[in-house]
Amino acid sequence: MKTNYRMIWEQATGLLEAEPWYVAAFSNLSALIMDMLPDLNWAGFYLMKDGRLVVGPFQGKPACIHIDPGKGVCGTAVLRNEMVVVPDVHLFPGHIACDSASESEIVIPVRENGQVRAVMDIDSPVKNRFSAEDRAGLEALAKAIEERVKWE
Ligand code: SME
Repeated sequence: MKTNYRMIWEQATGLLEAEPWYVAAFSNLSALIMDMLPDLNWAGFYLMKDGRLVVGPFQGKPACIHIDPGKGVCGTAVLRNEMVVVPDVHLFPGHIACDSASESEIVIPVRENGQVRAVMDIDSPVKNRFSAEDRAGLEALAKAIEERVKWE
């Protein structure tokens, strides 16, 4: 699956520089990801608040609101403080099914001073959707966010 991550990076940094406030930036970034990556059914952000994840700006069907660290794919990414790629969500113990269309998922931490402040969560209705190229492109996107976002 070929995706132009350079173009996505350029558009994303443009959006972040125009308005770094996380609500505005994450809203437009969710729309950008949904628009530019084929075969997705959900793309957005969960934010760390009072020790757990709460749903933030996203595109897709309504999703679960709270996720504790260690729970599901998102909570696992928080606990490990690293990207989690799930080629088949049905084989991931504890996967939280928000949209029954989801077959594969990638979750990338967004950090401030090394601590997870949010996760970028992307779901696909296609198994094994996220390639090494997607991982690298999305990791670079998370870094671009970390370097520019304002958390209040
Ligand atoms: N599947 C996620 C929950 C969030 S939805 O995919 C939008 C998880 O297991 O953490």
